[in-house]
Amino acid sequence: MKPILGVIFDLDGVIVSTDNCHYLAWKRMADEEGIAFDRTINERLRGVSRMESLAIILERADKQYTDEEKAAMAARKNSYYVELIGSLTKNDILPGALCTLAMLKEKGIKIAVGSSSRNTPIILKQIDLADTFDAVADGNAIRNSKPDPEVFLLAAKLLNLPPENCLVVEDADAGVQAALAGGMRVLGVGSAAANPNATFTAANLEKANFEMIFNL
Ligand code: G6P
Ligand code: MG
Repeated sequence: MKPILGVIFDLDGVIVSTDNCHYLAWKRMADEEGIAFDRTINERLRGVSRMESLAIILERADKQYTDEEKAAMAARKNSYYVELIGSLTKNDILPGALCTLAMLKEKGIKIAVGSSSRNTPIILKQIDLADTFDAVADGNAIRNSKPDPEVFLLAAKLLNLPPENCLVVEDADAGVQAALAGGMRVLGVGSAAANPNATFTAANLEKANFEMIFNL
């Protein structure tokens, strides 16, 4: 096993709790359009890009939308979402995230963000982590979102590390798949703690056994 020299963190659901903001923004848009949408369907949007998320929601629509209408709906959801994340603070950072980042820095391990979200820069600023990571790869810089490994491969490249030396931390099944497809080990947390394909699992970053992960 190659040593882990870099850790790439998904943002939403790993570092910060934005899930409810995404849900509320999509729910508002879906309600306005009269499309059925609930928290179960919302689970399928984890780690998936904005337009792919819309496509999942539109599976339950009873009319066809043009590409222009779809773009407008995605933009409307995003404006609701941006309004909601405007009130995110450091208090929304998830349990164990700050301690983990500090521990990795102390060990000399590089840290990066690998997120499908195009709102990554806004979120990092809101929670005071804009200058914390050695690299940020996000939805603004990629063409293919998770389960494609592109965002994680970009993060590894920005860290100057081969994928085999990187560990990904993910809460989405699409993200676990993306990390493995990129040749990286993956720690599944949150919803992905139950993913049988994850190399390691933990309920959240607070519960993760990094001693064990780094010694393997
Ligand atoms: C993250 C979230 C997804 C979201 C995606 C795109 O991966 O888990 O639910 O759809 O980012 O977010 P954006 O902020 O670009 O709409
Ligand atoms: Mg996530």
